[in-house]
Amino acid sequence: MKLLEERILKEGEVRPGGILKVDGFLNHRIDPALSYAMAEEIKRLYGQEDINKILTIESSGIALATMVAWVFGCPLVFVKKSRTKNIAQDVWATEIPSFTHGNTNTAVVSKEYLGSEDRVLLIDDFLATGAALVGLQKLVQMAGGTVVGAAVAIEKEFQGGGNALRAAGMRIESLAKIAAMTDDSIRFAEQ
Ligand code: G4P
Repeated sequence: MKLLEERILKEGEVRPGGILKVDGFLNHRIDPALSYAMAEEIKRLYGQEDINKILTIESSGIALATMVAWVFGCPLVFVKKSRTKNIAQDVWATEIPSFTHGNTNTAVVSKEYLGSEDRVLLIDDFLATGAALVGLQKLVQMAGGTVVGAAVAIEKEFQGGGNALRAAGMRIESLAKIAAMTDDSIRFAEQ
């Protein structure tokens, strides 16, 4: 998506360890117009599919996922990260390791909000190792629902998570796909 790529080139900063800082418009300060344009693009990509729920994980995916839910006309559910082992009985729960943060969170979602009738589109801001999408997929499977596919704002292709999940059969659409990054350059993959 040209608009997003241009914004990344203009405002993104490459940090050590292959981290792209896009705090100015995506995951700290939010540009609602850009988020809405991204949601419209996701609607163009997935609009033919039967989708009745949007699922993301806190926190940075929530803003985009809210816009996506609005354009699809369905609810957004965000999975919560809990550090406590003391989890109530009425939730689906799975462990999600974070490569970037070097920790593991227990991801939980209420059974009331995710069930076997759900046809789910997974949304996130970044796709790196794919751990978050794998965790979200597990929760949908536990609930007996269906993952229709996933859409992310930025895929870091060089970390391999997206292609591994595609090879395993998940449909994934990324609005900007980064093939390589150095301190002073960002190269997008051909889409
Ligand atoms: P994953 O996103 O594919 O699961 O990979 P990884 O385990 O590496 O990601 C851990 C967290 O770091 C995720 O956020 C992810 O969105 C974020 N992340 C990964 N790469 C980048 C990057 O290049 N730049 C930025 N800004 N974030 C990145 P999270 O743990 O779910 O936390 P939150 O920030 O959404 O609360």
